Amino acid sequence: MKIAIDGPAGAGKSTVATALARRLGFVHLDSGALYRALAVMALRQAVDPASERDLVHLLGTVQLTPLPDGVAVDGLELDQELRTPAVDAVVSKVAQHPAVRAAMVQIQRQWGQGRDVVADGRDIGTVVWPDAEVKIFLTASLAARADRRATEQGGLERLQVEQEIARRDEKDSDRPVGPLRVAPHAVVVDTTALTVEEVVDRLVNIVRPLA
Ligand code: DC
Repeated sequence: MKIAIDGPAGAGKSTVATALARRLGFVHLDSGALYRALAVMALRQAVDPASERDLVHLLGTVQLTPLPDGVAVDGLELDQELRTPAVDAVVSKVAQHPAVRAAMVQIQRQWGQGRDVVADGRDIGTVVWPDAEVKIFLTASLAARADRRATEQGGLERLQVEQEIARRDEKDSDRPVGPLRVAPHAVVVDTTALTVEEVVDRLVNIVRPLA
């Protein structure tokens, strides 16, 4: 069974997907971690995030493996490095290239084969698993999302966080391949006024009758 959770930056997808997977006994696939890992590698090796050819070449030289809740590069788990402001600043650029996306979709589908997965991202219900049994579009007001991210990243200036999120949403929504969209038949859940527990309870109620 596949559960797709898509939505804009800071809507709480990863937190909710982790908790939901635990409640259901599924594995959690954080697809954003894959794009972030490639951005980390590009920064480390001074690869131009605007060059599709160079990024595809870079992808061919490393082994990207999804882990439950994370990602490993050549067997080494990446953690803090995935969420630095430097990575936030380039990851949407890295993710806009069709050939990069095609490779990432392959990695996700292969990893998910034969598994019960809760996956979160931007294109899970539209591209990666369009036949997912459950599709959720998790969203929240820009202000709420910026507040959460600013708290999470401790000390970062809130207005700056809001601008960065808005910029990333625009890039993720405007790209021609795998743009952020509400998938057909997705249930839209607005988390602005909900706690994580309330969101997870709501999703469990949607999934349970089908699982
Ligand atoms: O969910 P996140 O903030 O960790 O994702 C980081 C970036 O990766 C996001 O700005 C766009 C890209 N991404 C994507 O293009 N497709 C996905 N399925 C997941 C993430």
